[in-house]
Amino acid sequence: MPLPFADRLNNVETSAIRELFKLLGKPGIISFAGGFPDSAMFDVEGLKEAVNKALTDEPGAALQYGATEGYDPLRQQLAAFMASKGVKDLAPDGLIVTTGSQQALDLLGKTLIGPGDKVIVEAPTFLATIQCFRLYGAELISAPIDAHGVQTDALEKLIAEHKPKFVYLIPTFGNPSGALLNLERRKKVLELAVKYQTLIVEDDPYGDLYFGEAPPPSILALSASVPGSRDWLAHCGSMSKVLSPGLRVGWMVAPPELLAKATMCKQFSDAHTSTFAQATAAQYLKAGRMPATLAHVRKVYAERAQAMGNALRKDLGDAIEFVQPQGGLFVWARLTGAGGKVKDGNELAKRAIEKGVAFVPGAPFYANKPDLSTLRLSFATADVAKIEEGIGRLGQAV
Ligand SMILES: Cc1ncc(COP(=O)(O)O)c(C=O)c1O
Repeated sequence: MPLPFADRLNNVETSAIRELFKLLGKPGIISFAGGFPDSAMFDVEGLKEAVNKALTDEPGAALQYGATEGYDPLRQQLAAFMASKGVKDLAPDGLIVTTGSQQALDLLGKTLIGPGDKVIVEAPTFLATIQCFRLYGAELISAPIDAHGVQTDALEKLIAEHKPKFVYLIPTFGNPSGALLNLERRKKVLELAVKYQTLIVEDDPYGDLYFGEAPPPSILALSASVPGSRDWLAHCGSMSKVLSPGLRVGWMVAPPELLAKATMCKQFSDAHTSTFAQATAAQYLKAGRMPATLAHVRKVYAERAQAMGNALRKDLGDAIEFVQPQGGLFVWARLTGAGGKVKDGNELAKRAIEKGVAFVPGAPFYANKPDLSTLRLSFATADVAKIEEGIGRLGQAV
């Protein structure tokens, strides 16, 4: 007898990407497929010190149950961290700590989405968000993007037409697009939030990973200059890509009534984010190590992004088009089919595995009509020599 699973599971499938990941165990594969930071860059010494300090100074709190909203010293440190990034008016109780920013997205789904509700996402967008929002029954509407992020004229039309529950954006070095929403469009998004009284969700796990000039301020930071917009804005942050994803420390800034409902739902979900992880993150931030850590990861990823861009231009030439990323972890590219070369991302993924290199085809990142010629390549976990070798193999596969 089949187990009686909930109907909501009918809305989601296991991701195609997981199937691909099964092939990655093949010996000698160079993988550009993951969405992970490089574990070689974790500040182990700094984290050891933070753990020791947490267990020495506050063993009770670090090992005991804690408040659902989060551990106060961490909320204070996070508010200060956000202030250093231009969010000047954030009180510690203006955010809750979540178990990764993934949980913040899940809580937004849980608190806001009912079956058939519409949510606007970018095309392409983060795959786990597509799955998560669909699990709650969302009908996802796709907004087009270009290298400067979501196209705000098209977004306005979609908001006016569909009256979505909310709009989900990854404005800074999006996953998978790498796109950076420009300043003008950021302001426009805030104006749209106010004009249409529509909640905007800014997911920002990559904003600190810039390679040259700092990106424009987050939509949250800019909300101070657009009256009324803060009431229509939720912002998700994460320690995952800059410090450690295993810590599972993220946070969400949102209007008080939304934070209250999300906190209530979190209570039923995991009671609170690990106090041990929170106390560790709080000590880490308090020790003032973050600026040096950020400088280090930016430098290493910048070199790798450059190496990947150069290798793609050299080894794939006009078979591929992409915008050189200015931050984040990914090159998002389109196969042109020039000279009769492969034009389908799935097809190339299979051929690439044969040649000993892996990446993720772009199609699963679209909630609606996929662009089959796209692919996502992560430059985060392979060093420059491996990147050059791997892209060389890709050049043979295309
Ligand atoms: C756009 C985006 N949002 C959220 C997450 C979730 O990150 P975490 O739960 O580790 O904070 C990721 C991770 O890949 C991501 O790419």
